[in-house]
Amino acid sequence: MADAARILAIETSCDETAVAVLRGRDELLSSLVSSQIDLHRKYGGVVPEVASRNHLGMLAPMVEQALEQSGVSKPEAVAATTGPGLASALMVGAGYAKGLAIALNIPYYGINHLEGHLLSPFFGSGVEPSIGLVVSGGHTLLLEVRGVGDYRLLGGTVDDAAGEAFDKVAKMLGLDYPGGPEIDRRAEQGNPARFDLPRSMLRSGDWKFSFSGLKTAVRYLLPELSSADLTDICASFQAAVVEVLVTKTIRAARELNYQVIGVSGGVSCNRGLRREFEKACARAKIELRLAQASLTTDNAGMIAMVAMEKYLAGVEDTPLHVEIDPQLKLA
Ligand code: KG4
Ligand code: ZN
Repeated sequence: MADAARILAIETSCDETAVAVLRGRDELLSSLVSSQIDLHRKYGGVVPEVASRNHLGMLAPMVEQALEQSGVSKPEAVAATTGPGLASALMVGAGYAKGLAIALNIPYYGINHLEGHLLSPFFGSGVEPSIGLVVSGGHTLLLEVRGVGDYRLLGGTVDDAAGEAFDKVAKMLGLDYPGGPEIDRRAEQGNPARFDLPRSMLRSGDWKFSFSGLKTAVRYLLPELSSADLTDICASFQAAVVEVLVTKTIRAARELNYQVIGVSGGVSCNRGLRREFEKACARAKIELRLAQASLTTDNAGMIAMVAMEKYLAGVEDTPLHVEIDPQLKLA
């Protein structure tokens, strides 16, 4: 693989500045993530203006460091996330990548952030036909993955994304932002059967999800909760989210005849979710592909992976006049 192509990828769709250099399909020579979580924590969520300013400051030194770390002076191509995400944040990364493409005279690939998440469980092992569940802060999507670039959207959330529900419930409970890891940690110590919370749309007969009713149910319980109940409410809430995600994903694989399920996005590093998916897939004799931990929350390795697949497949590069799209769709 001495002459395998190297791709530099940039991810700035939300509050993580990330840069990666990938050689061939599976050699991640460098993968840097600078989280701005501490800057946004005092606002209880991501402030777009703060995010884009920080991307601007972080990006150049991070690109330099990634290239240096990987011993690459001129990659064969450069890629950046062009959506979905925060407009001002996306613009920083895509603009920088286009500048590099011009300066180094190499092709540029604009990449869909969700495609990065969707394919991340297959990093290094090759994309397989599968049912993909993407669970992040902004999205909850169930898709049919027929191959690279060939997706069919089965359904998504009608209100809050799964990660958003974690974040909002955590905020209600007085926990830090982002709430997912905070709830995850407490849920490990709690009793998931203590509070009977709704499993919305579990039997809706479609592939849609809804988490706002669950959030409201937790809100109604707040007045009667004391700090001693915290671990139990975290465990009960998490169990409700996980049960719906696992059940509907397995059902999709069964009904559409897929032997493989891929789970990705920030919420996919949740320990309860990983455990339940493992159990349910073993029972259903379905192969489970979980993104490795460093590829679950936002990162540039997954963006480089999608760009590499396109590059190796001979897909045309993205014209430099193509702009970012905060609402970019996957299928
Ligand atoms: O994929 P990601 O980094 O960013 C988006 O594209 O949105 O996902 C971030 C989301 C946040 O809502 C965060 O609370 C959630 O992933 N998250 C978790 C865990 N770690 C991160 N949710 C549940 N359990 C976790 N351990
Ligand atoms: Zn993401």
